Amino acid sequence: MRLLVCGGAGFIGSNFVRTRLREREDEVVVLDKLTYAGRRENLRDVEEDPRFEFVHGAIEDADAVAAALEGVGAIVNFAAETHVDRSIAEPDAFVRTHALGTFVLLEAARERGLRYLQVSTDEVYGSIAEGSFSESSPLNPSSPYSATKAGADLLVSSYHETFGLETVICRGSNNYGPFQYPEKLIPLMVLNALAADRLPVYGDGLNVRNWLYVEDFAAAISLVLERGNPGEAYNVGGPDECTNIEVVRRILELCGRDETLVDYVADRPGHDRRYSLGSAKVTALGWSAATHFEQGIERTVAWYRDNSWWWQPIRSGAYREYYERQYGRALEG
Ligand code: NAD
Ligand code: TYD
Repeated sequence: MRLLVCGGAGFIGSNFVRTRLREREDEVVVLDKLTYAGRRENLRDVEEDPRFEFVHGAIEDADAVAAALEGVGAIVNFAAETHVDRSIAEPDAFVRTHALGTFVLLEAARERGLRYLQVSTDEVYGSIAEGSFSESSPLNPSSPYSATKAGADLLVSSYHETFGLETVICRGSNNYGPFQYPEKLIPLMVLNALAADRLPVYGDGLNVRNWLYVEDFAAAISLVLERGNPGEAYNVGGPDECTNIEVVRRILELCGRDETLVDYVADRPGHDRRYSLGSAKVTALGWSAATHFEQGIERTVAWYRDNSWWWQPIRSGAYREYYERQYGRALEG
């Protein structure tokens, strides 16, 4: 099949494209706006594959979407603004991409009768003190990021209910692994630890996240694309949950640093305390996580240590200005 992968130059999308080309006979067209987080470098190893095509464009641009859809049998939408802190500082792009962009893609899928998979997040359910959310838990988002993602999910479901479009939604917990932009907790802490820079931990460091290795999420998305029931959502939770400070301590150990590098900084406004997903539905389809946090974090630290070609241009560009605005201090190293 020929797949349109929107947002395929980002962290999870590029991992999905790589796996899909390796494991299936598919042709893959990536449509990506190339925001600060979308980088052709993320797809460097598949650029020469004759089954791969890249189209530079935005999902909210109906003409770009139509051109990219030629010969396509299904749409997988990763395209999003994805950083909670940026959604607090500048929510505009989150509304445009998640609301308008998702709408344009759904209309294009409806006109052509295409199967449509929306990649979503555990954050749409909000925080949970104990237990785990199921797919029928109410959506209760806290940030402009998660609220606009929840809005997109509801719009996707409405296209199934109203127009009979074959839609599926995949809601993942916090992903980590190679090619993740270093504004997110794990790559930020790894790069700062390698450079012996300060590690900014929000609040008391006891917020809990459910960590999912990116290749495991990519595998779940493939499965739901092929076998998910139209109109349904599937939660994909990682196998291990940890507090942020536990994650940071493990990274420090793997980088040969100690905890004196940790700075407890002002908390994020509206900071969700704990995310947790029950994954019974996707498990029933045949999915399980192959990578536990202990192995995954070792692999991830090793990847960043060995691939400075990938992150060095980021750490020396506009990212430095972002970092100074966000943390009120210059980036060292
Ligand atoms: P990312 O920020 O690394 O990548 C997003 C990609 O989308 C980039 O390539 C960017 O250029 C592209 N993009 C943004 N706006 C666009 C637009 N208007 N048109 C076309 N392309 C656009 O994000 P990620 O971490 O890979 O997340 C991918 C998806 O997975 C998102 O929908 C996100 O909500 C979801 N998700 C992420 C996580 C996580 O932990 N990172 C967990 C669960 C779900
Ligand atoms: P993040 O990677 O931004 O993912 P999300 O907020 O979508 O879960 O953050 C993960 C956790 O790490 C979250 O509780 C916020 C915390 N965090 C810090 O303590 N310091 C940081 O510099 C960042 C970016 C995140």
